[in-house]
Amino acid sequence: MVVHYNPLTKEPYLQLPAPRANIIITPQREHQIEETAAVMTEILNDSRVYSWLQGPPYPFLPEHGVDWIKMKIAENKDILSTLQREFEASDSQQVDGSNGQEKPEFFDKCPFVCIREVTERDPATGAPLQDVWIGDFTLARYAFYELPPDSSELALAQKQNNDLPAGHKDIIWGIGYHLSPSQHGRGLMSVAVRTIIQDWAIPRMNLHLLRGSFYVGNMGSSRVLEKNNFEEICTLEDWAPVSPNKGGGKRSIVVMEWKGL
Ligand SMILES: CC(C)(COP(=O)(O)OP(=O)(O)OC[C@H]1O[C@@H](n2cnc3c(N)ncnc32)[C@H](O)[C@@H]1OP(=O)(O)O)[C@@H](O)C(=O)NCCC(=O)NCCS
Repeated sequence: MVVHYNPLTKEPYLQLPAPRANIIITPQREHQIEETAAVMTEILNDSRVYSWLQGPPYPFLPEHGVDWIKMKIAENKDILSTLQREFEASDSQQVDGSNGQEKPEFFDKCPFVCIREVTERDPATGAPLQDVWIGDFTLARYAFYELPPDSSELALAQKQNNDLPAGHKDIIWGIGYHLSPSQHGRGLMSVAVRTIIQDWAIPRMNLHLLRGSFYVGNMGSSRVLEKNNFEEICTLEDWAPVSPNKGGGKRSIVVMEWKGL
């Protein structure tokens, strides 16, 4: 139940457990915007990735990446300042947020959005020195994919969920993710989902309710959720509109709900 802290770069991060401790999940970095956008662009124009995603534009351009990264940096600025203060008040490289307070402050967002493979560590401290961006993780208020697109029912459900204050146990959260094809099938996302839930979302956001959805046929995503104790709540045939650039029409989706750790 910890956020790690890189003493060299002052960056907070989550780390997957052994034997995948070379995978960390970090915030977006101000000094690597162009570099990260270039890798994102390559990955999000690969059909093994974009054909399973509803959100990102296709074709995905470097400027889409830059805008996305800047938006994440702005969104998470306050959380990262708070975490920075926590770390400064602690002697440890791992902080659980309690800091002796009776009630921890709950956050409304997950700033850990970049999945990275560490390629070099500092021999003295073990802190990551070099890494490569290999994927994206989003944990945000749920978008209710099971309600009819563009309906008033959808707008109302989203509004009610968005209006709940940070830390409220009735907030429904949603997850989305993708990985570089070179990393598919190595067990990374199954463990990344568990790590985010366990090390951040439960202790620091008071997560109780979580959903995920995927296009029918996405066996990888289906297994990632099943292995993390999600169960299907519905399958909707010919439901989610697909952008004309990706062939148009509608695709069937499965919505799954998390049943706890
Ligand atoms: C879906 C995705 C995130 C899965 O990540 P991953 O790290 O490759 O998944 P894991 O290695 O943890 O695999 C989880 C399980 O799914 C299985 N799996 C993974 N990819 C699969 C595939 N293409 N077909 C069938 N099974 C697959 C694995 O064998 C494993 O099952 P097991 O433990 O029973 O052996 C990744 O494939 C991806 O980025 N896909 C493209 C984008 C995408 O689909 N995003 C999700 C949109 S909802």
